[in-house]
Amino acid sequence: MITRSTDVNSVRKLLQKMSPPFALVPTMGALHEGHLELIRKARQKVGSSGTVIVSIFVNPIQFDKASDLENYPQPLSTDLALCERAGADLAFTPPKESLYHADHSVLIRESLLTKHLCGATRPGHFDGVLTVVLKLFNIFQPNYAIFGQKDFQQLALIQRMARDLNLSTTVIGHPTVRAPDGLALSSRNTHLTASERADAPRIHRALCAARDISHTGEQNPSIYLEVARKHLLMNPLESFTIDYLELVDAETLQPTPSVTKPSFLATACFYGKVRLIDHIVIPS
Ligand code: PAF
Repeated sequence: MITRSTDVNSVRKLLQKMSPPFALVPTMGALHEGHLELIRKARQKVGSSGTVIVSIFVNPIQFDKASDLENYPQPLSTDLALCERAGADLAFTPPKESLYHADHSVLIRESLLTKHLCGATRPGHFDGVLTVVLKLFNIFQPNYAIFGQKDFQQLALIQRMARDLNLSTTVIGHPTVRAPDGLALSSRNTHLTASERADAPRIHRALCAARDISHTGEQNPSIYLEVARKHLLMNPLESFTIDYLELVDAETLQPTPSVTKPSFLATACFYGKVRLIDHIVIPS
């Protein structure tokens, strides 16, 4: 039976009665198969006697648009049932007031890996992500924390934060989970209309088409970007727009001048107001 807590002090007390090692899966709820895989991975890391914690918190300070925050799905009772079924021991579901003082004024900011991709198009977003993740790490002191590789920039930033701030949590990335038609699973997919949902696998297809030219030994980034852009914009729906399409070095997340090292070809696209991200590894 899963235990639920909504308060920082009481969850700390609860934790003292639970057995280490601890694995944390931070989420914003609206759980799908991708999240459930993270929970299963957490269980694998701590074994049957360890403790798997899932936090469900729609973190207001990481939203750059008020409408995005207002529309974020919050099916809490379904989420709790899914957490339990996937093997979580403890669900932390705090209200905003429990995590943030009304006059909170400290933020974590990263200044290099955030220069491109979502960091450039969603100002302040990653300050909010890093701040809440550090708070969760401080509350739970988990041995492991599991994040999806779909959000590879977020994962890289959290790993960098753990390194640069000497955190003792091991940050683990788990591969992107996709629908059978290739669309990366995301809580935002439920906001697509039926025709947008049917069209959305074009994002993964476009990235795959570009990745496939790496077999020719092509090193010019603009060729990869052109191929992906051509596929993204081939007979698009009216509501479809590209937020960014970038080819970045897989380690530094800076635009790559030549594909001589593994790189990420990454995009964020809109269907109306619904923003979807995806990426693919371009081998060197
Ligand atoms: O990836 C998410 O769902 C969120 O950004 C996270 C890591 C739970 C922080 O709010």
